[in-house]
Amino acid sequence: MSKLILGIDAGNHTAKIAGPYGMDSYRTAICDWFERDIVESHGADDMEFEIDGRKGFAGSIAVYEDEFGRASMFGDTKAHEDTKIRVLLAIYRYGKKYGIDITDVSLVTGQPIVSHKPTDKEAIQQMLVGTHTLHVNGETQSIHIVETGVAAEGSGAYWSSPEGGTVRIIDVGSGTVNAATIIDKRYINNASDTFNFGMETVNNKEDLASVARGIIRNTSRLKWHRNDSVYVCGGIAKDMLPFIQSHYSSAQLLQPMLQEGNAVTVADPVYANSIGFYKLAKGAFG
Ligand SMILES: Nc1ncnc2c1ncn2[C@@H]1O[C@H](COP(=O)(O)OP(=O)(O)OP(=O)(O)O)[C@@H](O)[C@H]1O
Ligand SMILES: [Mg+2]
Repeated sequence: MSKLILGIDAGNHTAKIAGPYGMDSYRTAICDWFERDIVESHGADDMEFEIDGRKGFAGSIAVYEDEFGRASMFGDTKAHEDTKIRVLLAIYRYGKKYGIDITDVSLVTGQPIVSHKPTDKEAIQQMLVGTHTLHVNGETQSIHIVETGVAAEGSGAYWSSPEGGTVRIIDVGSGTVNAATIIDKRYINNASDTFNFGMETVNNKEDLASVARGIIRNTSRLKWHRNDSVYVCGGIAKDMLPFIQSHYSSAQLLQPMLQEGNAVTVADPVYANSIGFYKLAKGAFG
């Protein structure tokens, strides 16, 4: 088939993929390969892989069977090898889900605002662009990444549902929170930041109120005001919204819009970055 264009948000908890056929997501836990005593059949998102020479397991299996592996990297940069594995598995899964034979791909992926710098961006591009050989669950496939753009998390989400004026976006992730300010479609660096905590790094992830307080304290330092147009996205957005609204009273969910043919789907806020990235990819590579 001709070149496929995708937006891939390779999150520390979940990868989100948007493209011309629709969306997909999978749990991004990865662990190193080990001999299993009992080889069970592969679950829906369990993947045994060998990619560019690295062997391991990904998906739910890695969440439970990581005793010989490593935990997910909840750092504030995505310029590391796990990102490559996550992105390639995302492409592989997208092809399976929609029954398409993928060879050439052009994509935009993301990086936390704080590490959205030329050196990290180039490192991600260098690692992704080229031809990769994947063995997944016994099948072999070759994927050629033609070109890669790197967008900032949170601010890239803006393009999933752009509007004029001053817009604040809070992207609550597993390892980081990205807070972005966009004024008249332009990203404002000194009113945006990445906070170095997320749902999987706080002491008690049930305590949404204290996570929200941390977000409110840090965004207030960026001089955000109580009545600003604040949009919340990420995997926990719906549950988090009321706690954000206790301070930012006009806060609402970011509702990403994905066009598929003539139909427009309003997607879950967890897909905001991936859909924004997809729109940027179409603009750059379409
Ligand atoms: N389907 C779900 N149901 C309940 N909670 C969820 C679900 N998906 C994600 N979460 C929670 O939301 C958090 C954030 O998910 P999200 O997918 O936005 O993180 P991420 O993008 O993978 O992380 P990061 O942005 O730090 O790389 C997760 O840590 C998890 O606790
Ligand atoms: Mg995220």
